[in-house]
Amino acid sequence: MNTDSHEFSSVVNALTTDGWCVVPDLLPAAQTQALAAECRAMHEARQLAPARVGSARTATPLRGDSTHWFQAGAMSTPQQAFTDRLDTLRIAFNRELMLGLIECESHYAVYPPGAGYTRHIDRLRDSDARVVSAVFYLNEDWQDTDGGALRLYLDGGSHRDIYPHAGKLLLFLSAQFEHEVLPATRDRMSIACWMRQRALAPTF
Ligand code: OGA
Ligand code: MN
Repeated sequence: MNTDSHEFSSVVNALTTDGWCVVPDLLPAAQTQALAAECRAMHEARQLAPARVGSARTATPLRGDSTHWFQAGAMSTPQQAFTDRLDTLRIAFNRELMLGLIECESHYAVYPPGAGYTRHIDRLRDSDARVVSAVFYLNEDWQDTDGGALRLYLDGGSHRDIYPHAGKLLLFLSAQFEHEVLPATRDRMSIACWMRQRALAPTF
């Protein structure tokens, strides 16, 4: 893997031009497999909780996944490797685009068969902190017929379907792109992340 400081220059260019892009192999396969194994084990041990939307207290019919937030200072080795890699990307965005991204927040997500997430935008109504959305996929041997695409809605009414293949990272500007998760026929595992800026103080 190319690790020089311009490794991500094509990613930076794509994000500037199109507002979104796909990185096919973010991590060495062994690291992706370690994340997948951990996510699956936590799911089987019932350590993931039904996801909520925004500040809602309860699970919602809008999304059918269960999640586990990574906790700063208490990350497993695979979680730390992933977080370090995303930080390299975040720092490249700050250097090249002056985005002022101060941190990432990440969670595992498992969508059981038939579950999805209806069309939405990742900017929360009460906060502009999320600038870049990043979704990293953990699913070996995924076939298009398994479903589970992330449908990204583009300007002008078209869309792109991105399938959740192991090792693939999807990036897009959080404020700009509506998207949805289509149901799959098998468990669908991902890490959803948001690169955050310092939130502006609310105006009353
Ligand atoms: C989300 C989301 C997409 C995915 O968690 O907000 O859109 O492909 N996830 O898991
Ligand atoms: Mn989303």
